[in-house]
Order: sequence, then C-alpha cells, then structure tokens
Amino acid sequence: MGFTHLLYPELHNVQSAGIIYRVSMLILTKTAGVFFKPSKRKVYEFLRSFNFHPGTLFLHKIVLGIETSCDDTAAAVVDETGNVLGEAIHSQTEVHLKTGGIVPPVAQQLHRENIQRIVQEALSASRISPSDLSAIATTIKPGLALSLGVGLSFSLQLVGQLKKPFIPIHHMEAHALTVRLTNKVEFPFLVLLISGGHCLLALVQGVSDFLLLGKSLDIAPGDMLDKVARRLSLIKHPECSTMSGGKAIEHLAKQGNRFCFDIKPPLHRAKNCDFSFTGLQHITDKIIMKKEKEEGIEKGQILSSAADIAATVQHTIACHLVKRTHRAILFCKQRDLLPQNNAVLVASGGVASNFYIRRALEILTNATQCTLLCPPPRLCTDNGIMIAWNGIERLRAGLGILHDIEGIRYEPKCPFGVDISKEVGEASIKVPQLKMEI
Ligand code: KG4
Ligand code: ZN
Repeated sequence: MGFTHLLYPELHNVQSAGIIYRVSMLILTKTAGVFFKPSKRKVYEFLRSFNFHPGTLFLHKIVLGIETSCDDTAAAVVDETGNVLGEAIHSQTEVHLKTGGIVPPVAQQLHRENIQRIVQEALSASRISPSDLSAIATTIKPGLALSLGVGLSFSLQLVGQLKKPFIPIHHMEAHALTVRLTNKVEFPFLVLLISGGHCLLALVQGVSDFLLLGKSLDIAPGDMLDKVARRLSLIKHPECSTMSGGKAIEHLAKQGNRFCFDIKPPLHRAKNCDFSFTGLQHITDKIIMKKEKEEGIEKGQILSSAADIAATVQHTIACHLVKRTHRAILFCKQRDLLPQNNAVLVASGGVASNFYIRRALEILTNATQCTLLCPPPRLCTDNGIMIAWNGIERLRAGLGILHDIEGIRYEPKCPFGVDISKEVGEASIKVPQLKMEI
C-alpha cells in the first residue's frame, strides 16, 4: 500500500517477535490443555485480545482516524508506534476541478456516498477487529460545515456502536504533528502550515500547546495557486488536467522561466510574520490578461507563456514564505523559544508537498543552522493517517479524550493556538537578505 517504510518499524527486532510468538504458543498450549495444538491464527487471535497486532511487538494503543473537513474522505488505523495498519482515501479533486472550485453541497454528498466504504476499507486493511480500537479520532474543526458534519455524525454513530472513547481533532494541529509520526522530533519546533485553506506560522510546544506567530491576512497560498491555475485553464492542459491547482503550477513551472516577469513579494515593509496572497493573485491576473492580448487568445485558452507565469508565481510565493519564516526563526531564537542550533522547522499542509518551496525553505534552514523536516507529500495533503496519529498523541498525553459525546459539535471556524503575532510585529525584526537561487 505504498507505506512499507512506515509499516512495522520495530520489525528489525525479529528475534523478540519470535520470543513473544513462542511464549504465546506456550500460554495457549497450557490453557488449552492437551486437546489441541494452537494454530498460528489462534495465537494471533489470542495476541489481538490484548490489542496486539501481528507483526508489531508490543501491546499498542490503536486509533481509527476519520477526516472529512474539506474535499477528501479519508480514514486510517494507526498504532502507538506510528505503524500505519490500514488506510483509505477518496479524493474529490477531479469533481471539483470540473466545477471550478469546491461546491460544499457536492462535497457533502460525496462524503456521504463514500465514508462508510472508506472507513471499512481502512479497518479491513488493518486486519484488526473494531473492538480492538482504543479510540476513534475525527476532525471536527476547522473546515467546511457540510463536510465536517458528515464525518462527525458517522463517527458518533460508530462511537456509540463500539462503545469507544472519542477524540475530537483540530485539522491544523493534526497537520502540525504529522511529522512526529515520520521523524523523531521533540518539542519545541517551528511549523509552517500551508494549505488550501490556511497559512500559519506557529511554535509547537506540546501536543496541544501552540503559539501562533503569524497567519495569512487574506487567502491561503493553496487557494491562490488554485485560482491562478483555473485562470490559466490548466485543466485543459494535457499534462495537468487531473492535478490540483498547486500541483499543476509546480509541474508547469519546471518548464518555465521565472525571470520573465518581475513580481515583488507581498508585505515587503511589514516587519511581522503575517502573509498575504490576494495582491499577488491580482497582479498575476493582470499579467495573464496582458499576455492574452499580446498573444491574441481568448480567456479559457492556454497561453504559450503559462509555464513562465507558473514559475514566477511559484518563486514569488516561495520567497514570501521564506521571508516570514526567517523572521519567525529569528524571533524564536531571540526569545529563547527555540534552541540557537539545530532548531527544527517543519513544513506541512498541501502546499508543502511542493518541492520548489521545500528547496527554498532549505536555503533558509541552512542559513540559520536549522533543520527542515517535511512529511512525505502524501502526508502533507489531507489524509486519515494524520488524524489517527493526532488521536494517538492525545491518548498518550491524556488530552481531550471524551467518554461522553453529549453536546459535541463541529466548528467550521476556530482559532489555532495562542496568538502572539502582535508581539512578533512589535519586535520589528529586520531580516537579512538571502540569495534565493533555487
Ligand atoms: O492540506 P490540503 O490537502 O487541504 C487543505 O486543508 O486545504 O491542501 C490542498 C491544497 C490545494 O490548494 C492544492 O492546490 C495545494 O494544496 N497543493 C499544492 C501541491 N499539491 C497540493 N500546492 C503546491 N504544490 C503542490 N505540489
Ligand atoms: Zn489540510
């Protein structure tokens, strides 16, 4: 299932597996007396009664994660050590590309049609019985109301049937902590969350302890990339017709020249960590209009300079993200919120699957003696694994585990962490120029 690198990281210790298996055989043989020789299946069933998954070596907590906050119906079963036991996802991207953006009632209908199958697939792939689950974790905020509602009501029904604890999940917190499933990362670390709905810079101090340093004042970078891709009609481009806007821009930019147009990164003078993408989008619209006139083509046809425009937009976004993140690193080091050396910067969310942006961030981390960590692209975009993992993190920390689901509601809008962005702006930190040769 494409996740073998995440599966069973403990298996290097095959010897212990053998010992546990043999001990189980012994116990079973003792308890069964002389009447039967226990089969392999019986041993595994016995182990499972202790929440023990065959192939893993310890008694584990296991969480089913369910995600429906936007346009992906996703579910996964993850255990305490980060083993992904099963996962399934249904993406609505292609449907929404055709309608030129997400239509919430359409997203809701598609979630309704797919949620049962997706959860079932994730559970079946995990080969555990639902009764072995330690808890069910589901995104309840922030997101599209109609989409969140489907995931929440399905989950609450399941929680009632299985009599399991429920763990409500903040979608952006889940994006922020995904890296702790793939890498050994201790708190505190800095996180840049860039997706279709969000742009946040935060210091992660604990499982549920975030300091918000800056956010987008208008739209998110993914939203902007989706709009530019639509305006460039990339859905008609043979190479990127099924790609999300951001992915299509990344793909096309490889064939383009970023020096063809000159766009200044936004908020150049504001010495804070906030972001802005609307101005950039309008400037790009103007460039596209001008080029359409020059090339004598109608809106809706593909410009010969589309790749150059994609390359320029991608580069400008990368520089903007780097500049604001640079200031955040300096602020955190100045206040001793991050170590002076080897501090970790994590980038996650759909836009962080962009390798050009990752390379730009790497220039920054190299220049500031930090380490850049990004989850693999499949874990940067929305998925069920990050929700299940957040459930595991919360179970381990004993935070937000509900045994009574009375009155639980989804929240389309909600804050992220403690907002100290004003303090960051007041520090008015000047950021040295970096050579962005990507
Ligand atoms: O995190 P995500 O899957 O969903 C939200 O929570 O928003 O992010 C989706 C966003 C979309 O706007 C999509 O265009 C963007 O991530 N995206 C990318 C890339 N892949 C997806 N943006 C830039 N480069 C990519 N390779
Ligand atoms: Zn997301």
